[in-house]
Amino acid sequence: MLVSAKEMLDKAKAGHYAVGQFNINNLEWTKAILQTAQELNSPVILGVSEGAGKYMCGYTTVVGMVNGMIKELGITVPVALHLDHGSYDHCYKCIEAGFSSIMFDGSHYPIEENVAKTKELVAAAHAKGISIEAEVGAIGGEEDGVIGKGECADPQECKAVADLGVDFLAAGIGNIHGKYPANWEGLSFETLDAIQQLTGDMPLVLHGGTGIPADMIKKAISLGVAKINVNTECQLAFAAATRKYIEAGKDLEGKGFDPRKLLADGSAAIKATVKEKMELFGSVGKA
Ligand code: 13P
Repeated sequence: MLVSAKEMLDKAKAGHYAVGQFNINNLEWTKAILQTAQELNSPVILGVSEGAGKYMCGYTTVVGMVNGMIKELGITVPVALHLDHGSYDHCYKCIEAGFSSIMFDGSHYPIEENVAKTKELVAAAHAKGISIEAEVGAIGGEEDGVIGKGECADPQECKAVADLGVDFLAAGIGNIHGKYPANWEGLSFETLDAIQQLTGDMPLVLHGGTGIPADMIKKAISLGVAKINVNTECQLAFAAATRKYIEAGKDLEGKGFDPRKLLADGSAAIKATVKEKMELFGSVGKA
C-alpha cells in the first residue's frame, strides 16, 4: 500500500538520515527501485515529474502500475508516490489519481501567491491523508524544460512557507538539477543552517542529488536534510548499460534485440545506483 511521505521523513529527520526520492520513467525503473528498497529494507519515494507522468500515459496509469507492483512483488517497505515539481493544476490531478504525496513548486510565483496557493493545496492534500512538499528559492538547472538559476532561499520565506502546514520543504541552497558545472561553488551550508534554525523539526529536501560529493551529502543530512532527490544519475547509469548491451552486438539473428534482456541490463544499473545512494543516505534498514 502506498503511504504518505510524512511519517518516513519525520523519522528520518529525527534519526539523522535521509530517504531517497528516485524519479521513475517507465516500468523497468519503477520495478528496479522498488526491489532495491525491499532488499535493503529501506523506505523509498518514487518521484514522478509532469513530463514522466505524461509519458507513462497519465497519473492513473502510474498509480495502477505502482500499486500492482507493490502487490505482485510483495513490497512491504513504506513507499510514497510523489508528484515532483507539480504545478497547481497537476497537484489536483495527482490528488484525484491516488498519489500519496505531492510537491507544489510555486517558487516562480511572487511569495504572496506561492503562499496562497500552497495554503489551499495543503488543505486539499491533508483532507486525503496526502503529504505535501513546497519549494522556496528556485533549484538551478533544467528539469522538464523549466530552467532555474540555483539561488539560495531566504530563510525567513522558508519559515513563512513551513508555517503553512507543509510536511517537508525544498529550499534552494545552490543546488542544481543535472550535472554540476566544474565551477560550481558547492552547497551553501550557511543558508541551510539558517533555514533549519528557523524551521525546527521540518524535514528539508535537497533536490539535484546527482553529483553532490558524499561529504556534502552527509553534512546536509547533519543540518536537517531528510529527503534527497536523484534522477540524472539513474538516467546516466541506465543509458550506459543499455548502450553497452547494444554495442556488444547481442542482437538476435534477424530479430533485433530482445527488449527484456536489453532493459534488464539497464535495470541492473539502476539497482546498483539506488543501492549506493540508500547506503550513503543512511536509509538502509530503516523501513
Ligand atoms: P538530479 O537529476 O540532479 O538528480 O535531480 C533530481 C531532482 O531533484 C528531481 O526533483
